[in-house]
Parts: sequence; C-alpha cells; structure tokens
Amino acid sequence: MATIGTDIQKAVDELNLGHLVAIPTETVYGLAGNAFNELAVAKIFAVKKRPSFDPLIVHLPSADYLDNVVSKIPEVAKKLSTHFWPGPLTLVLPRKTQIPDLVTSGLPNVAVRVPNHPLTLELLRTLSFPLACPSANPFGYVSPTTAQHVEAQLGEDIPYILDGGTCQVGIESTILGFDGDQPILYRPGGIPIGDIENLVGRVAIKTTGSNPVAPGMLKNHYAPNKTLKIGNISELLKKYGHEQVGVLSFEHHYDELSDPRQIQLSPKGDLTEAAQNLFASLRKLDAMDIRYIFAELVPETGLGAAINDRLKRAAGG
Ligand code: TXA
Ligand code: MG
Repeated sequence: MATIGTDIQKAVDELNLGHLVAIPTETVYGLAGNAFNELAVAKIFAVKKRPSFDPLIVHLPSADYLDNVVSKIPEVAKKLSTHFWPGPLTLVLPRKTQIPDLVTSGLPNVAVRVPNHPLTLELLRTLSFPLACPSANPFGYVSPTTAQHVEAQLGEDIPYILDGGTCQVGIESTILGFDGDQPILYRPGGIPIGDIENLVGRVAIKTTGSNPVAPGMLKNHYAPNKTLKIGNISELLKKYGHEQVGVLSFEHHYDELSDPRQIQLSPKGDLTEAAQNLFASLRKLDAMDIRYIFAELVPETGLGAAINDRLKRAAGG
C-alpha cells in the first residue's frame, strides 16, 4: 500500500531517491519520476506495464524552464505556452540531449507541459529536475482522477501518492506538435481546439492512423474491462435488454433502467462537469456486476470533442 498524503517534502525526498510518486494535476493523476534519471524513467514503464514505444510527457515548473529541455521553440509554441501554461496543454518540441532516449522512446522530440495544480507546482519548483509523468493507470486503462483511483491500481508499486483532491479538468491535456509554425493536434484534451485556434489560427488534425504519433491515439485506449457500446441508449436497451447493463449518459435519465446502474455525466448538460465526471463514472460502472456499459456521445463543442474521443477509444475505436 502506498501512503496517501499532502506532504510535499515527503514527495521531494522520494523523488530525490529515484523513487516514483503519484502526483495530482488539473487533468488526471500522474506517475512521476526524475526525467533526467533513466532508472526512475524505466520504473515508470515497468509499473504502468507500458510499452517502451509510448513516450512520456515531461512536466516543468514554468515556461522559463523550457530552455533546459528543448532545443528550439517555434514562435507559435512560445505564444501558446505563455497563454495556456500552467494548464492542460502539452507541446511536442525538439529535445535537448539531457532528456534520456527512454523518455521520448527515441524520438527527436519531447512532449512538455506545465501542470496547473498548486501542490504539484510547488513540488516542481522545489525539485532540481523536471518530472517524467504519464497518467497513473496501468497502460490502456481509464486514467485516475483521485488519489484513491491510483491507490486501487498502483498502490502496491509506489511509496507515496500526493493527494490533491479530485482533478478539476478530469480529462488529459491537449497535445500539439508543430510542422514549422503550423500547430498539429495529436490528442484532443483539456483545452478545446477552438480556444487554441482563437489564439494562433488554424490547427491541423492528425489524431488517428495505424502508426500513431501519440499512442494515446491508439484506437483501443482509456478502456474499462466491461464491454462498452456507444450509440443511442434507448435503442441499445431495446436491442440488448436491461440485464447486466449499465448506462453512462450525458444529461438524460433513462427511466426504463433502474438508478444504481446509470450515471449521468452532467444532469444540467454542462460539458465541463461531464469531463470532470467521465473517468470516475467509467470506473464506477466497471466495478458493477454488469457485462455491458452503454454510453452516448456528447455534443462535439468545447470539451465535447475530447470526451467523445475518450469514449470512442474506450469502446475500442
Ligand atoms: O494531462 C496529461 O497529459 C496527463 C497528466 C498526468 O499530465 N498525462 C498523460 O500522459 O496523459 P500519458 O503518458 O498518459 O499520455 C501522453 C501521451 C501519450 O499518448 C504519448 O504517446 C504522447 O503523449 N507523447 C509523449 N511524448 C511524445 C512525443 N515526443 N511525440 C509524440 N507524442 C508524445
Ligand atoms: Mg495515459
């Protein structure tokens, strides 16, 4: 069992020893280790059972730190970092050699972001190194949004979980790469693409394919163990019946199904609230004595695009 607490010094001590600590961010909890220490980075892959071809995001204390890990910053990336950091935006930029190959899976670029959580920002400012930090879930499973989610799955393998409460955004960061000054979307996430386009103009989309640039783009990812089917919930209930079924809806309540087996992401139809509740709701349904989870897509606007992306991947593409 991991210790769960709010002791930043304890987290610092563990990380200085090359150990892993789970940390809160505004998006999801991360599994953090010294990004400059190959042994610590190797532990991250081992604990998550993550394939070595799936690179890690490096978490920085501030945009000023970028020069230590990145060799070139396009103007547009500078603008984005100034505007959205700290916040749920990850930028993929040419790396410096201080970043071990293992972190980037040998790629010439490194993914970086400044997370927006007071405990983790204080932790990052105290440390003398940045943190390699993927979501703190076993590879392929739903991301954790509470310290208890982390404890349930990785508690045996890590000494400490820094408890920052429930993640406010609830869905992982938006990932952008660059072709010269042209931003390219690799993964929709906590910053809606419209907000990015308002600042820097058109963003190119590159989020699927058989050989994805970002494995979070793999078609089967963020997935519960139960079979997840996406569609019109009333029709799914008609087709498959109500036995062994749980429902994940956006705002609507399906009266034909009993309450404990259905979760509304946001009864008032708010996408921000829906994103906050998405992963915890999938975990709740996954723990029920059911076989199927029926879910419906949400409106594609704002955070809706990221929510729908995760739902589709959780259903296996
Ligand atoms: O919100 C988040 O981004 C959370 C919190 C903990 O910060 N982290 C997170 O990390 O979602 P992870 O490892 O679960 O997902 C990171 C994604 C992966 O799909 C990975 O392939 C992609 O980022 N990625 C990392 N480095 C990359 C690189 N150099 N080039 C392209 N994609 C990269
Ligand atoms: Mg992940």
